[in-house]
Amino acid sequence: MLAEMFKLLILILALCPSAIDSSFQYFNMVEQWPGGYCQFHRCRRVPWPNDFTIHGLWPANHTGTVENCKKTGFAPIQDENKFKQLDSIWPDLDQPRPEYDTVGSRVLAQSFWGHEWKKHGTCSENMYNQTQYFDLAIKLKNRYNLLSILEQGGLSRGHSHEVVLYPLLLPPDPGGVA
Ligand SMILES: *[C@@H]1O[C@H](CO)[C@@H](O)[C@H](O)[C@H]1NC(C)=O
Ligand SMILES: *[C@@H]1O[C@H](CO)[C@@H](O)[C@H](O)[C@H]1NC(C)=O
Repeated sequence: MLAEMFKLLILILALCPSAIDSSFQYFNMVEQWPGGYCQFHRCRRVPWPNDFTIHGLWPANHTGTVENCKKTGFAPIQDENKFKQLDSIWPDLDQPRPEYDTVGSRVLAQSFWGHEWKKHGTCSENMYNQTQYFDLAIKLKNRYNLLSILEQGGLSRGHSHEVVLYPLLLPPDPGGVA
């Protein structure tokens, strides 16, 4: 099943030239297949999205991912439109679907984003502040539709495929994405 195979897929985005002075050289855009993820976790998000969702946008260099760089806290996202966009493409599958109007639910829904920001996002903060970091993730997710890329390559849902995974290297600043 595609669900099993694509538990986690990584798109590697080369953003080298402008990041020369920092310890990160590119981003791993990490997406997960909810059907696969939820086989191993007790997902409370029902129904699960039937598309890849973001796990994180991870700054990395050739040594590996660069983590826990600064102590800059996460500022909960106030903008309703931004919240809803992120909730649809970067949901916390372990939590029930949040109601934006309920403060408790809105805060709980953001703990996953907060975790990803503190562990990963702060390592690219010299180039992308929190707002820019999440905006970049939204742009990349919308620009590169992983499901349709795989389907165009002959990998379809509900079938078994033998695959070799290798990074998809994208050019720096693809069409002004950053
Ligand atoms: C890559 O990241 C590691 C861990 O943060 C850091 O120690 C190392 O200096 C970085 N390498 C380069 C070439 O920037
Ligand atoms: C991020 O940077 C942009 C552009 O410099 C700025 O307008 C915005 O206020 C900054 N946001 C935060 C949260 O620092």
